This record gives sequence, C-alpha cells and structure tokens, in this order.
Amino acid sequence: MAAPDCGDAVLSKRAQLVAGKGAGGHVAEWKALLEEAERPVNVNLTQGFPDFEGSRTARFEAAEAIMRLESQRLNQYSPLVGLSSLMDSIANLYTRLWPKIGEMDAAKNVVVTTSGTEAISVAMQTLVSPGDEVILFEPFFPWYAPGVRLAGGEVKLVRLDMEDGFAIDRTRLLEAFDPKRTKMIVLNTPHNPTGRVLTREEVRSVHEVASTSEIGCVVFSDEAYEGQCWAPGGHEKVQTMVEDLNAEACARVKCLTMGTASKLCSLTGWRVGWLTGPKEIIKGAKAMHGYSTYCAPSPFQHGIAKALDGFEDLDPDTCFDGTGALMRANAEKVTSAMRAMGFKVYKPEGGYFVVADCSPLGFETNMEFCRTLLDECQVAVAPMNMFYGRPPEELSPSERCLVRLAICKTEPVIDEAIARMKKLKAAN
Ligand SMILES: Cc1ncc(COP(=O)(O)O)c(C=O)c1O
Repeated sequence: MAAPDCGDAVLSKRAQLVAGKGAGGHVAEWKALLEEAERPVNVNLTQGFPDFEGSRTARFEAAEAIMRLESQRLNQYSPLVGLSSLMDSIANLYTRLWPKIGEMDAAKNVVVTTSGTEAISVAMQTLVSPGDEVILFEPFFPWYAPGVRLAGGEVKLVRLDMEDGFAIDRTRLLEAFDPKRTKMIVLNTPHNPTGRVLTREEVRSVHEVASTSEIGCVVFSDEAYEGQCWAPGGHEKVQTMVEDLNAEACARVKCLTMGTASKLCSLTGWRVGWLTGPKEIIKGAKAMHGYSTYCAPSPFQHGIAKALDGFEDLDPDTCFDGTGALMRANAEKVTSAMRAMGFKVYKPEGGYFVVADCSPLGFETNMEFCRTLLDECQVAVAPMNMFYGRPPEELSPSERCLVRLAICKTEPVIDEAIARMKKLKAAN
C-alpha cells in the first residue's frame, strides 16, 4: 500500500510558516510573470539586478585570486567572521566616507555574511526570541517578515501611505510599539521599493519610541542602497543619528546596520554582505552566521575588499562606479515619462526602483496592469503586493494598483522601456 501523502505536514512547523507564502497571495501568478519576464523579447524591470558590469576592480581581483597559485588559499574557507582584509575595508570605508560614524573596530564591530539577505536573517536570529515583536514599515523588503517568523517573533505592521510621501507616522508607530514586547524596529533607507530616504525627524520619532523599551529594543537599519542616494545631503547613516540622539536624550538605544556588496559593487550574484554594530550584538551575530553558512565565498570577499578600498568619496558620478548618478538620471527619466502618461508616481531619492500607481489609467489591480503591460508592450514590472504583509483585499484601491519598476539598468534599456510603455492603451 502506498504511503499516504502528508503534503505540507512533512515540513517542520517553521517551514510551514513561510513555505508558499508571500507575493500577497499571488505566488503562482507572480512566478509566471517572472518566468515570462526573462524571455529575451521583454524588457525586464521586475528585479533589482543591474544589467551593467559590476565593479571592475572586484571582478579582476577575484578572478586573479581564483587563478593564481600564490593566492590559492583564497579558494578555501575564510574565517567565519570574514576575511580580515574585507573586515578592515568595511570599517575603513565607513570611517572614510561617513566620518561621523566614528572609529569602527573591524574585529569587534563587523561580521561578513553570505549576502545582505543572510545578514537580515542573522540579525533576526541574533536578537528576536519567541514572543518578541518586530515593527516593520509597510511596504517592506519581503525577506523581513519571514525572518521575524522563523526566529519565533511576531510582525507588527506600520503602514506608510503614498499620499504622505511614504513618511513614518509617529501615531501609528506608537500604536504598534509595546515597551515590553517590541524587540526590534526595522528601518530601510534608501528604501526598497519606494526609494524614500528617511529624514532625521523620522529617525528621531523611532529613537524616542525605542528609548522607552523595557527589553532593549534595537533599531535594525537596512542600508543596502547607501551607495545610491541623491537626497539633499546624501545618505546619512542611521547609526550616527541614533548615537546623536542617545547623547541628546541620555538614552542607550542600539543600532545594528546591514550593508551589501550586491549594490555597492553591483554584483548581486556574489553574495557578500555584512553587519556592523555594537560588539555584544556582533558577537552573537558571528555565532549565528557561523552555524548558518559559515563563511561567504573567499575570492569574492577578497575582490570586494579591493573595490571598497578604491571608493574615495561620495561623489555620485564616480564613487561606487557611478551607479548613484545613473540611478538618479534613470529615476528622473522614468518618473517624468510615467507622470506624463497619467500614472501617479513617487519620485525616489535613492535606491534601485520607482513606484507608480496605475489606477489613474483605469486599471483596478496591479496584476491586471502588469499582465497587460507585458502582453501589449513587452515590458515586465513587479506588482507591489509582495511588499505588503496583508492580502490585497485589505489594501486600499490605490495600494492594490501599485507597481515597482527596477531602474538599475543601462540608459538604452530604460529608454526602450519608456518608448514601449508609451504604446500602452489605458484600461478604459
Ligand atoms: C532593501 C534590501 N535589503 C537587502 C537586500 C539583500 O541584498 P543581497 O543581494 O545582499 O542579499 C536587498 C536586495 O535586493 C534589498 O533590496
């Protein structure tokens, strides 16, 4: 007799928590769209991977390290905390480009992870215990909520509205915060998907709330796009703002920060990321990372270290291989073209994306719009459902119509996407 098929019951309770979830309940449709987006006839603006070459220095150095007999140790494990040259390069980069951050001790304040995604998971595993709550500002990068749940925590959502420029609403934050249970508040600046850059006042609200915690609520700052920020004054590290506010208010809020070579060096396939923060948190993170992937690929860590050493200042035209300037130009182009077509568009100040509302064109859902755009214009963009922690029925009519366009592409690709989109017929 055949064994009964126990379906999902074969999975651990933890796997059941996250398997098949996401995309706002549109997993199958989203997967189909992504698969189709990959077809060469389509201009694919769904995912945040660059179509331009990543850092030349990083690629050259890693390739050499892989091939040269003299450096063949780099083809083997690196220390679990990270290659020491990369840990030094990360600490030096931050103190060089963002001097307000102060001295960073590479051995105590840095751990290299196997991607920013792993850094997020490690952060949650290090800080969140069963019963703890974590505040996420919605829309959010879709890896946060499963990370919280896998650590046994509970997600508390605080909605950001496009009408308010996706700014943090202090009243909503206060409602979600519990001094006895909130263990972490997750910030992301520049933000994926919106491209919004947090203001000092917003960080002040977050700090004010976190400082009333009875369980040591930590501010976790995802700064994946710190190299692509064109807001006036540029990217400001949340850690420096938190430290200033601690000094001002005699508070002791801790800040843990995530960075990634995926975006700083435009090499999303290399899977090199890191966490920086207070030594007691980094100590725990090192253990969690060690028991997770052990170490990031050694030759890639070596290449990234060399690339980071070459980033001298924050000039968007030159630093981080000029990606900041390219993103700003693409964002301006896409925003004005889409506004001229009738979309409601949020103008980003950083990051890899532009967010638009397609409802003014007569569409009722983003899935309907994405399907039509792909069929009629051969342009693939992403519905924003997966950036919300609730099903589309619980979103407002305009939120149900939000789409995200990846602008981390070369100019001709962006121009072609715009030219094709102009042929779109409105839904009514
Ligand atoms: C906001 C944000 N955080 C983290 C990551 C993860 O980056 P990585 O490629 O290093 O895993 C991404 C990737 O798109 C992101 O957009």
